[in-house]
Amino acid sequence: MPSTPPRVFVTRELPGGSGEGSPIARLRGALGADAVDVWPEFDPPPHEVLLERTEGCTGLLCMINDRIDGAFLDARPGLRAVSQLAVGYDNIDLPACTERGVLVTNTPDVLSDATADMAWALLMAAARRLPQGRDAIEQGRWGQWNPTWQLSSEVTGRTLGILGPGRIAKAMAKRSTGFEMTVLYTGRSEKPDFPGTFVPLEELLERSDFISVHVPLTDETRGICDASFFARMQPHAIFVNTSRGPVVDQPALITALEDGTIAAAGLDVMTPEPLPPDDPLVHAPNIVLSPHVGSATVETRTKMAHLAVDGLLASMRGERVRHLLNPEALEVQTKGRP
Ligand code: GLV
Repeated sequence: MPSTPPRVFVTRELPGGSGEGSPIARLRGALGADAVDVWPEFDPPPHEVLLERTEGCTGLLCMINDRIDGAFLDARPGLRAVSQLAVGYDNIDLPACTERGVLVTNTPDVLSDATADMAWALLMAAARRLPQGRDAIEQGRWGQWNPTWQLSSEVTGRTLGILGPGRIAKAMAKRSTGFEMTVLYTGRSEKPDFPGTFVPLEELLERSDFISVHVPLTDETRGICDASFFARMQPHAIFVNTSRGPVVDQPALITALEDGTIAAAGLDVMTPEPLPPDDPLVHAPNIVLSPHVGSATVETRTKMAHLAVDGLLASMRGERVRHLLNPEALEVQTKGRP
């Protein structure tokens, strides 16, 4: 049986430009320009368009807001590789891909520093009340210098609690040494190489001045930051989330901010995304928001695009695949579906 010619759909224009050596030029160079179809719009292709454009595709390069589930895979049985331009992949039904022998890759590591920088930016902005200061200037409330005005939280020497000791969390913790902080962390198990002290969740919540969340979104983590979580935090503590919005029970966070259960929050991720401007979260007190841009530096996004192209090409060529999320799918590819 002749093998299907490689053909890929890329669900957004890729960062890194289109010149020689750019991620998209590499993909076109490797597969042939006609074999690479790129969705030209800013917003994701609607699901029915995704289905239509992937007809005959063997590879897909997708983003966090493209839903890849069993029904989609059944409609596209020729698909052999899905490359996600992100580290998180909760939009992809991984077991469904594995079962059908579809290799899935993501882009970890290269975004850890940029995302940790963003978590720190949110932490510092919330601690030092940057939005409130700007509001005061804009609204003409900036009076003479006064030693009691616009007081905020000290960061140096305090305790940083980290939920989910993965690669981004490690970069977050590393940055805290300049601030001479004590780092506590919690997760499924102790990680010997993590720069901090492993403690149970309750202790982390009770002892930390700042809590930063770095867990993937799974059935286990959905909604873990709920009313009882915030109730255990100290009233002066600040909550930071750069992972996924649904790990937070958002109404519970808004209540915790409104009634002073916690002091402030900095969020790069929320529910829904994009957040409508009239959402109660936007108007919650002492909140700093950024629009899911943790990894959005020119350098990092370009590295992510190259890594996503590497993953896609290696998967499609049957080469050793770095950052393969489901090695079991290789067996399904060779032996067939059980
Ligand atoms: C972005 O949210 C990512 O998972 O890389």
